Amino acid sequence: MSRKQLAANWKMNLSLTEAYTLLDGLKAGLKAAHGNLTRPTLLAVPAPFLVPVGNEVAGYDGLLELSAQNIHHAESGAYTGESSAIHVYDAGARWTLLGHSERRQFQHEDNTMLHGKVRLALKHGLKVVYCVGETLTDREANNTLPVVGAQIKDVLYGLTPEEMADVVVAYEPVWAIGTGKVATPEQAQEVHAYIRSLIRGHWGAEVSNNLCIQYGGSVNAANAEGLFSQPDIDGALVGGASLKAPDFLAILTALGK
Ligand code: PGA
Repeated sequence: MSRKQLAANWKMNLSLTEAYTLLDGLKAGLKAAHGNLTRPTLLAVPAPFLVPVGNEVAGYDGLLELSAQNIHHAESGAYTGESSAIHVYDAGARWTLLGHSERRQFQHEDNTMLHGKVRLALKHGLKVVYCVGETLTDREANNTLPVVGAQIKDVLYGLTPEEMADVVVAYEPVWAIGTGKVATPEQAQEVHAYIRSLIRGHWGAEVSNNLCIQYGGSVNAANAEGLFSQPDIDGALVGGASLKAPDFLAILTALGK
């Protein structure tokens, strides 16, 4: 089975009316854009939108699956304002993003906490898009591979091969997110190949050959094809360009070719 898969990260954007307009635009071209892809495309939406967006995409032939953007690190309890794995699952999510750099930066999520979150997500039936990536300071100090390596080892190495079948890794260099500065296909490929080599070393060829590794950071309709031509870039986690149906469909088309 192809390991290619695309994901949209709406972040904290769109009103519900705007979301419906976007979904209408996606619906029109989704089947054609999906081409030969065998995995569903993911929509990571704000938690309050899981139910209404889920109701809308139920009729999209299973081509779209819902993702949360985060879950809390506790299963339940006195955490006013938070959503647990159980909540987002019951609201229709079958995936969650974890470890997005915006959460690492603004909510101080570290690898130890994220290991617990990954376990909690999998326990409650959520597949995981686990985000990793270096800051500009890391890259300039030649620390890209050690930083990304620790994010992989500390968070994922405790999982079984079976659990790894429910994990996607998204490599998102922090300096490329929302900045318009995309990593070159070669820069991204170097890190993707390194991630896959770690996975192969720890779990073996079957897990590493099946792992979808997405690139994220200013992916758009113009640069997607170059990124997807690299052997270890299996898809993308798309922020800004996922908010416009034609742009997102063009990225999907490039992946589905
Ligand atoms: P961007 O965001 O495509 O707007 O750079 C990607 C992400 O943060 O997931």
